[in-house]
Amino acid sequence: MIISRFMLAVLFPSLFMTISVCLGDDTIFANESLSADQTIVSAGGVFELGFFKPGKPSNYYIGIWYKQVTPRIVVWVANREKPVLDRFSSELKISNGSLVLFNESKIQIWSTNRSFTSSPAVKAVLLDSGNLVLKDGSNSSKPLWQSFDHPTNTWLAGSKFGYNKRTKTKNILTSWKNSEDPAPGLFSLKLDPNDNSYVILWNRSRRYWTTGSWNGRIFALVPEMNRRKNYNFNFVTNENESYFTYFDDNSSSTTVSRVVMDVSGQMNQPYLGPTGWTVIWSFPRQQCQVYALCGTFGSCNENSLPFCNCLKGFEPKSQTDWDLKDYSGGCIRKTKLQCGSENPANGKRDRFLEMSRMSLPENMEYVPVDSMVDCESTCLKNCSCTAYAYDKECSIWTGDLINLQQLGEGDTSGRTLYVRLAESELPRPKRKKRITIGVVTGSSAGLVVLIGLIVFLISRRRRQIAGTRKALGDSLVVFGYKDLQQVTKNFSEKLGGGSFGSVFKGTLPDSTIVAVKKLEGVVQGEKQFRTEVSTIGNIQHVNLVRLRGFCSQGTQRLLVYDFMSEGSLAARLFHPNNSYVLDWKTRYQIALGIARGLLYLHEKCRDCIIHCDIKPENVLLDVEFCPKVADFGLAKLVGREFSRVLTTMRGTIGYLAPEWITGVAITSKADVYSYGMMLFELASGKRNSEQIESDGKLIYFPSMASTIVIQGGDVLSIVDGRLDGNADREEIERLCKVGCWCIQDDEAHRPSMGQVVQMLEGIIEVNLPPVPRYLHFFDDDEENVMFFAE
Ligand SMILES: *[C@@H]1O[C@H](CO)[C@@H](O)[C@H](O)[C@H]1NC(C)=O
Ligand SMILES: *[C@@H]1O[C@H](CO)[C@@H](O)[C@H](O)[C@H]1NC(C)=O
Ligand SMILES: *[C@@H]1O[C@H](CO)[C@@H](O)[C@H](O)[C@H]1NC(C)=O
Ligand SMILES: *[C@@H]1O[C@H](CO)[C@@H](O)[C@H](O)[C@H]1NC(C)=O
Ligand SMILES: *[C@@H]1O[C@H](CO)[C@@H](O)[C@H](O)[C@H]1NC(C)=O
Ligand SMILES: *[C@@H]1O[C@H](CO)[C@@H](O)[C@H](O)[C@H]1NC(C)=O
Ligand SMILES: *[C@@H]1O[C@H](CO)[C@@H](O)[C@H](O)[C@H]1NC(C)=O
Ligand SMILES: *[C@@H]1O[C@H](CO)[C@@H](O)[C@H](O)[C@H]1NC(C)=O
Ligand SMILES: *[C@@H]1O[C@H](CO)[C@@H](O)[C@H](O)[C@H]1NC(C)=O
Repeated sequence: MIISRFMLAVLFPSLFMTISVCLGDDTIFANESLSADQTIVSAGGVFELGFFKPGKPSNYYIGIWYKQVTPRIVVWVANREKPVLDRFSSELKISNGSLVLFNESKIQIWSTNRSFTSSPAVKAVLLDSGNLVLKDGSNSSKPLWQSFDHPTNTWLAGSKFGYNKRTKTKNILTSWKNSEDPAPGLFSLKLDPNDNSYVILWNRSRRYWTTGSWNGRIFALVPEMNRRKNYNFNFVTNENESYFTYFDDNSSSTTVSRVVMDVSGQMNQPYLGPTGWTVIWSFPRQQCQVYALCGTFGSCNENSLPFCNCLKGFEPKSQTDWDLKDYSGGCIRKTKLQCGSENPANGKRDRFLEMSRMSLPENMEYVPVDSMVDCESTCLKNCSCTAYAYDKECSIWTGDLINLQQLGEGDTSGRTLYVRLAESELPRPKRKKRITIGVVTGSSAGLVVLIGLIVFLISRRRRQIAGTRKALGDSLVVFGYKDLQQVTKNFSEKLGGGSFGSVFKGTLPDSTIVAVKKLEGVVQGEKQFRTEVSTIGNIQHVNLVRLRGFCSQGTQRLLVYDFMSEGSLAARLFHPNNSYVLDWKTRYQIALGIARGLLYLHEKCRDCIIHCDIKPENVLLDVEFCPKVADFGLAKLVGREFSRVLTTMRGTIGYLAPEWITGVAITSKADVYSYGMMLFELASGKRNSEQIESDGKLIYFPSMASTIVIQGGDVLSIVDGRLDGNADREEIERLCKVGCWCIQDDEAHRPSMGQVVQMLEGIIEVNLPPVPRYLHFFDDDEENVMFFAE
């Protein structure tokens, strides 16, 4: 009779225990194998490696966990996707110089994938750092293979996490599918070698969060990371590699921490203290900022537990997964749509469920209709249309809806979304609804009223447009590319290199001097470009640079602006030559002028425009030092590329509101933030990024100025020393308070541009602002551990 290993193990479990002791404590030698409940333990007893079973199904995996910690925390898994069912007849062993896992049928299901001359000295050692290393007999410090190079969902202290420039390989952390299945889930973290930023991706491709560039001091955008003294994060970049490492606090033997890409889509760092695990930080900070967390037709709500719920009329595709907090499967309809087989007689048709305060999903299509009724019927007519929204414009969605979020009561950024459902899934219609339906189905009285209303609205709109055109007098000039070549003497006199292309000086035949901007990265077609440009051309305000004309020929896209003789505010303000110093009154007027220009963009023109790139480079001064905001409307011209361009541009980073990197929708409050940052620079005459020294510590200027104003210190000490104290105390105080309100972390706490203008004009009082929390992280006091960057 043949006694299998399995039977042996069942009959004599203690025998296997003994063998486990025979294995080198922390090592698997070439003549050994690991099976069943055998484990190896690192020399200091910190980590243990062996088979484990993460959930109810009898799936076993080879993993590494903390030996001393219960419940078990697994930090690395070998065969993530290929579990074995019978751990007794499966084996982990050295085979031909590699560490290999064989399943029940002796088939290799996982390997370190390295073929070497089968040296009998090859062995696998588990270290106290949690690293499993494969070594040969030589004393070389470089291991043949190590688990630290192949992390699963956990980045342990001491391991490098980054990008190898020679082999072009990068480390990736991928979440488990759910708490009981270590197979790769939808969320992953990696280093983007283009700008040394960490990015979190959904389904390997869609970015939903980034740290921003880690070059220089930009890491401060991730404040909590350097919050605790004992976690030292170091960034290293050289010709061979770019990576981060961190070191755990090793002063106490009980301190343990790890960085995890969690199944929730958040990256976090739990830390084991005397009272159990505490998460020190997690990103994105809000659960609902995780892209598509709740799957198709699921909606995320920050104020409910669980965060994910199916939309009304839908149910989880897999309740089992849903119970394990794996929402990726999303939701499915309880009743299929009636489209194509309508029968209004027995109520078989589709209707829309109104959902208010929703953040709208992406991939909408605009439909050029002018009323909500037309918008609804456009959607209803197309069987693949699943939702619409109407807010001056009609947007429709086809196919699955993802990344839906239900916003809280006070959140004004939400919109109303109408989701298509079979009528039987809808609550009984309210009266208001019935009227709408009456119209759609042709109730004559309603129809007449409605048509009347629409006609009225359209004609009113027409009149408005006509009115603006007339007020403009002359319209935009369309230039040919050759003309502009001539005007700019073949682009010979460069005025500057803006965010989206270079600017050249030119002289029109009537000797007017103009600035010609050669756009880069415009992907739009001719027609859309002309539409956008004419929108920009319609916007005229004394504090906005005027667009005179444009050129759109082949792939060339150029804009022709009025020339501003005194150049940019940046050039003036930061000019090393003292004879260029702007006096206080001028600075205050500039602050006010920019605010008025932005107010006009945000609230006064027909389509609200968010500038998105407010900084001193984009404020130009005319001969009387009247400020004019430049480059507005370009965000839309450049389109999707815009935010990528912005976040990779070093010069801009200090002006970007935190929401740019957290990936939430950008509102006009992002401009308010940038404007606030600029106010501090107007006061100091220096870039905020230049740190100042105070009591031997490096301090970030906005944070120091805010503190002085709030604590009632000497406000004259804040302003540019080159002014010799010639400045109005009250104005300085007001300017800094407004600045401080503008740069609040939470956009809801920032004032609107209208309020800013009123505060600066002294029409409304300015309360004492709280110091924005995240400013502190630019400070360099001893509370913060420095990151090192090259
Ligand atoms: C395996 O080899 C190591 C050294 O290579 C030796 O110390 C150990 O005793 C061997 N174990 C068995 C079970 O033969
Ligand atoms: C080891 O390598 C040799 C030669 O490449 C091969 O014949 C043999 O099958 C390999 N053994 C295993 C267990 O893979
Ligand atoms: C072992 O793995 C192979 C390849 O993945 C698979 O076909 C086979 O069914 C596995 N054996 C058992 C007993 O699960
Ligand atoms: C490792 O080897 C297995 C087969 O042994 C192969 O399927 C897998 O793609 C290899 N992995 C890598 C990263 O080369
Ligand atoms: C490895 O190093 C040890 C001590 O550092 C030395 O005794 C031994 O000879 C070295 N072995 C080889 C193969 O270099
Ligand atoms: C992830 O992307 C793949 C294609 O790259 C696609 O087939 C799959 O459906 C996506 N997963 C989800 C949940 O959307
Ligand atoms: C980069 O790799 C080369 C070759 O391995 C090595 O000589 C050099 O010292 C490495 N540079 C750094 C900074 O580690
Ligand atoms: C503790 O960490 C520091 C580096 O942060 C290292 O130099 C030191 O050797 C470590 N001490 C122990 C006991 O591991
Ligand atoms: C429905 O809308 C989609 C997306 O706009 C479009 O591709 C499709 O042709 C439309 N179907 C009908 C029947 O209009």
